[in-house]
Amino acid sequence: MGNLDGRTAIVTGGGSGIGRACCEVLAEHGAEVVAADINLKGAAETAEKIQASGGKAWAAEVNIAEEASIENLMKQVHEKSGHIDILVNCAGILDPTRIPDMTVERWDRMMAINLRGTFLCSQKVLPYMEKEKKGAIVNITSQAGQVGGWKAGINYSASKGGILAVTKALARYCGPLGIRVNDVAPGQIATAMTAGRGDTPEGIALGRLGTAVDVANAVYFLASDLSSFCTGMTIDVNGGEFMRS
Ligand SMILES: NC(=O)c1ccc[n+]([C@@H]2O[C@H](COP(=O)([O-])OP(=O)(O)OC[C@H]3O[C@@H](n4cnc5c(N)ncnc54)[C@H](O)[C@@H]3O)[C@@H](O)[C@H]2O)c1
Repeated sequence: MGNLDGRTAIVTGGGSGIGRACCEVLAEHGAEVVAADINLKGAAETAEKIQASGGKAWAAEVNIAEEASIENLMKQVHEKSGHIDILVNCAGILDPTRIPDMTVERWDRMMAINLRGTFLCSQKVLPYMEKEKKGAIVNITSQAGQVGGWKAGINYSASKGGILAVTKALARYCGPLGIRVNDVAPGQIATAMTAGRGDTPEGIALGRLGTAVDVANAVYFLASDLSSFCTGMTIDVNGGEFMRS
């Protein structure tokens, strides 16, 4: 049930960190992966790494803050692969600006990338998934969106909280179309985004920071048929730092 042979997966943010790990894990399970990123060099490195270990991958440039760029990505992938089965919305930015220093520009940029970008990528992939009457969308939110991140700016926390709501709204709309929509909420994961922040395992029940692969494994579960009756849900990958009741 977990086999992704014959499926095409687009991973935004596939040029680095968690997105790169998602590309690698989905490819290991048989998917043809499109590493899509504003950083084409990083995306190309991801694709080369996967190809070198025998997997199927290619790179594409996208700016998820631009509607036309997203439309072009979906069209390009569909023309090349014939179908789009999985979308992982992983591209994002972090901004640690404190509340008194927050500006309209910083707020709007964050929303345009993290929140609107996640929605637009999902909206633009839907016609292609609808054609196949199946598909899986996995959005990367954050613990910051659940608890109000103490290390992230309020704009970041709001954008990730927004993704939690977008996921549920999409899941309700997409269920009858055979398309599942879920999200993964990472806690503190060691990547370029958090490098230099001085994160420590304090308060994490498992006593360590997370890895990109820890997150990618949860994404794989939600992208594959292993999660065939799951939609509108969130998997927390945080080492037990935040536990729900
Ligand atoms: N690292 C963590 O602790 C952590 C925790 C919770 C959530 N997340 C989320 O996981 C996702 C991946 O983060 P990461 O830690 O791997 O960071 P990262 O900086 O390594 O990767 C982010 C990627 O997104 C790309 N990107 C940024 N803006 C883009 C745009 N406009 N269009 C297309 N691509 C764009 C970047 O080029 C980069 O390759 C993000 O959404 C982040 O918010 C990370």
